[in-house]
Amino acid sequence: MERVTLSPSLELSRIVYGMWRVADDADTSVKHVEAKINACLDQGITSFDQADIYGDYSAEAVLGETLRAVPSLRAKMEIVTKFDIIAPCGKYSDAPVKYYDTSTAHINASVDASLTNMGIDHIDLLLVHRPDPFMDHNETGAALDALVSSGKVGNIGVSNFKPWDCDLLQSGMKNPLVTNQIEMSATAHECLTNGDLAYHQKNGQHAMAWSPLGGGSLMNGNTDVMKTLDVIAGENGVDRAAVAVAWILAHPAKVLPVMGTNNLTRIAGLSDALKVNMDRITWFKIYTAALGREVA
Ligand SMILES: NC(=O)c1ccc[n+]([C@@H]2O[C@H](COP(=O)([O-])OP(=O)(O)OC[C@H]3O[C@@H](n4cnc5c(N)ncnc54)[C@H](OP(=O)(O)O)[C@@H]3O)[C@@H](O)[C@H]2O)c1
Repeated sequence: MERVTLSPSLELSRIVYGMWRVADDADTSVKHVEAKINACLDQGITSFDQADIYGDYSAEAVLGETLRAVPSLRAKMEIVTKFDIIAPCGKYSDAPVKYYDTSTAHINASVDASLTNMGIDHIDLLLVHRPDPFMDHNETGAALDALVSSGKVGNIGVSNFKPWDCDLLQSGMKNPLVTNQIEMSATAHECLTNGDLAYHQKNGQHAMAWSPLGGGSLMNGNTDVMKTLDVIAGENGVDRAAVAVAWILAHPAKVLPVMGTNNLTRIAGLSDALKVNMDRITWFKIYTAALGREVA
């Protein structure tokens, strides 16, 4: 599996495994979570995406239980997690409103909780989960820089940020923002034309793509884009999901798809996406079907 350099101190695997849904799996046992991690590692998928809020603030602990039981796993993995969303559930059930918190106090408390939950001593990549309209960029930037200096966090990035949000936060910090995790799939492709991906491509940053199968919506049905994916899948001897991911992988901006299946067989097949021949014409066949019209 190809490795992508995000900074001098951070390489991620080209395909990332996301753990948003890990706590929703009927089986959250150490044995099953370990099997999922090993199914990724066997393919060279070494990067794992978490967030404090996943599973109503319980998903990091599900991973942590496995890392405590099988400590040898940690050194084989890069762990990404996120902070700033306070939703009235789990440990924040008493929150009077859903909000974002990019204050120093919250950043430090959230990172300490993530480290404890996962039973690890550092986070390889910490992302600001959503742009905070109440952010003091100088305060947030300084708090994030301090976490890198302390060694608790290796690298900093963002998620769901617009280019101007990135510029604002970057202007308040010394460490470079190394990625932006944004939505991208054959059903959510606005980032290709609204300037989001162009901004990162221009800056030489590799974005990460969340919900590359549209959160599963691309997998059930028979729309034009699904039919197009199926034809290409047949030509390449893979399934629809592999083609949908190959469509993201082929983009010159070198985006890293973050896959979310809980199914062990599907996890074991994630690298099938690398087998697909995705030339320009094939890419545009999918894009045309996704747009529902030919390009102008
Ligand atoms: N930064 C953000 O704001 C943000 C937002 C959302 C997600 N994320 C990250 O992105 C990751 C991926 O998101 P996602 O889970 O929505 O990604 P996804 O890979 O687009 O969708 C996964 C969903 O599709 C289903 N699926 C996959 N293959 C299928 C098939 N062949 N047939 C039927 N259903 C199928 C899976 O069900 P099964 O489990 O049954 O296979 C699962 O429910 C998350 O884990 C998280 O790390 C980040």
